[in-house]
Formats: sequence, C-alpha cells, structure tokens
Amino acid sequence: MSVLKGKHILLGVTGGIAAYKAAFLVRLFVKEGADVKVIMTKDAEEFVTPLTLSTLSKNPVVSSFTDKEKNWNNHVELAEWADLFVIAPATANTLAKMVQGKSDNLLVTTYLSAKCPVYVAPAMDLDMYQHSTTERNLRHLSESKHLIIEPESGELASGLTGKGRMAEPENIVQYIKNQLSSQLPLWGKTVLITAGPTYEAIDPVRFIGNHSSGKMGFALAQIALDFGAQVHLITGPTALDMSHEHLTMQRVVSAEQMYQGALEVYSKADIVIAAAAVSDYRPKHQFNQKIKKTEDHLTLELVKNPDILKTLGEQKKQQFLVGFALETNNEVENAKQKLLKKNLDMIVLNSLQDKGAGFKKDTNRISIITKTDFSRFDTKSKDKVAFDIFQSIFEHINAR
Ligand code: C5P
Repeated sequence: MSVLKGKHILLGVTGGIAAYKAAFLVRLFVKEGADVKVIMTKDAEEFVTPLTLSTLSKNPVVSSFTDKEKNWNNHVELAEWADLFVIAPATANTLAKMVQGKSDNLLVTTYLSAKCPVYVAPAMDLDMYQHSTTERNLRHLSESKHLIIEPESGELASGLTGKGRMAEPENIVQYIKNQLSSQLPLWGKTVLITAGPTYEAIDPVRFIGNHSSGKMGFALAQIALDFGAQVHLITGPTALDMSHEHLTMQRVVSAEQMYQGALEVYSKADIVIAAAAVSDYRPKHQFNQKIKKTEDHLTLELVKNPDILKTLGEQKKQQFLVGFALETNNEVENAKQKLLKKNLDMIVLNSLQDKGAGFKKDTNRISIITKTDFSRFDTKSKDKVAFDIFQSIFEHINAR
C-alpha cells in the first residue's frame, strides 16, 4: 500500500510553463490512491486548463475567491481538508508572496490558513532561480519547515540551460513518498516474519503438514510494510502472494529450509515474528519412490525438527522476538512457559477453543503475553489483529 493512499493532497499550481506538468502530477497522485484537489492562480490557467486538472483529479478546480454563481470558495475549509499542500510549480512570485505572507489570491490565502506540511517545487528561469532574492526566499521557507523539492537542471523554456526546471512529476511523488515514509515508526527497521505451514516429505507425493494458511503471517508482513519496514517474509507452502518494493519473500517447503532462511537474515533483524506453524517432526527417511500399499501396516519413524524460534531466542541480541502459541488446554500457562523457554519478548496466544480463531479463518482472537503483561483482545480480522500486535510491540519497545 502506498504511503499516499487515502491522503488528501491539495495541489497549488502557479503560472509558469511547468504548470503543464501538473496534469501528470495529478495523475500520479491519483494512481497512488490519493484524493487530490487543485487550486490554481489565474496565470496558471493560461498554461493548463482547469478542465484538464478537474477531469484528472475528479474534483472541482478553484482559482478565485468566488465561483461563477458567486459562491464563496472557502480557503479555510480547503486548508483544513489537506493532509499535504504541494505547490508545483511554484514561481518566484508565489515564493515571494509566501515569504511575505501576502493573501491576494486564493492559493496564497489557502497557504496562509494551512497547518499541514507544505511541499514546494520551484520552477523558473536560471537567472531568476539564482537571484539572491529567490535564494533568500527559499532559505527562509526551508528554515520554516517547508519541504523544498529542488528544481532540476536542463534545457529551460527561455532557451537557457541550467538549474530551474521543475522536478519531474515522478521525482516529486518519490520525494514526498520518501519523506512521508521516513516518518513511519518502522522506517529503517528490518522485520523478519515466518508464515504458513511446513511440509515434511514422506515420499515424492506425500508429506506431513498442517492446516495453516499463512494468512496471519502475511497480514503481519503487510502491516510492517505499511509502517515503513523492510520486511523479510519466509513462508511455507501457501496460495497467498504479495509484493512490495520493501518486501523480500522467500518461499520454502520444509522446517529445515525455514530454519536456514531465518538464521541467514536474523542478525539484521530488529523485530522477528514467528507466525509459521512449523512441523515439529519430519520422517527420518524420505522414500525416493512413491510408497506402495503392499503392507497392512506401515511405520514411519519421525525425527525432531529444529525449533527455529528457540534457536533465535538463544542467539538474541537487539531483536524483539515474538512467538505464537496455539494451545488447546491450559493455554495461558503453556504460553507463558514458552515465552520463558524460548527467551521471547512477547507471545501471541490463540486458542482453538475460541470461535473465530485458528487455521484458515479470516479472523483471530488473541491474547498478548509478555513477562509483565497480559492483554486479551476481541475477535477481529487478521489485518486488525496484526495491527494490534504491532501496536503492542511498539509499546513494549518504547518502554524498554
Ligand atoms: O513450541 P510451539 O511449537 O508450540 O511454539 C510455537 C511457536 O514456535 C510459533 O511461534 C512457531 O512459529 C515457533 N516454532 C518454530 N520452530 C518450530 C516449532 C515452532 O519456530 N520447530
């Protein structure tokens, strides 16, 4: 999910040739899932039509204090609506008005009312950009917490070549996404998650496995990505799929493969959540050919799989380590024992006795247990459960 999804973006377009690029910018914002409203200055309307921008943004475009029917365009409401105010292109004239606090058009008046972060993408000719007044104005805006998206170098409309052309729309969007992401709680953090079942081969067609769907682990991975983390998801066989620029997904089959995968990534991880339902045992011998049903009795000898989570607990350094426990009896006591035995920071208990919890379901009912706390949650969708788990992790990490 994009950090811009659902964000209210107010785009201010001022009167420079780069205003034509505002159309591409609106499209990119909309593609990211943002809700876009556009304010233009009168001069900007000479370069790009309000109809183009209203069609692309699917919202009316405003440029004066009143519309044709003399209804007031409420600048305070617009400013309050906005989560981000992006002024692109920002001419030297508009920059100067912003610094001076002028309010002689709807755009700068709305700017004065805005309390949200303001991004400014200047666009002007080389000499105007280098002028000491423009330099001073940009420095002033930057020092007062405005985010300046620097212009790029290249051919300018005047025929000169140099710095002054508005950053390309893709770069403006990327700048804003990076800046928003850098404020997310898991930005710069690595989260390792194990998910799904493991399959332990008996012969080329049969295996020992379990009913885990991987839904809980995938929901946790999604929330970690939404919070800005770099996520390494190691999953056993599942029909689920997901992709994200910050996600590395490693598909494995057996517990041994999951164990190897987890150990490789572990030293880099800040938070580790073992949501996989790992087979405790595997057949001692794997048959090369399909076993024939010639005998009345067949005995399979099983050997123990490595306990991935326990090994991670033994090697724990900076990691915040979270395990899952699926219990059928004496649940809380058993989960607490596991927390200690595996050296965990937190254990998430789900009980098969609870309706709405367990394998293949879209919902789960959990309790979160740490050495000091016990909290029981209502039955919720696995997405919401994943959110609750991360909230608890943040609380405990902050209290460390
Ligand atoms: O001991 P038990 O299997 O009940 O512990 C469950 C927790 O341990 C889960 O978090 C599960 O992912 C993890 N586990 C593991 N490796 C195993 C068995 C369980 O990582 N071999």
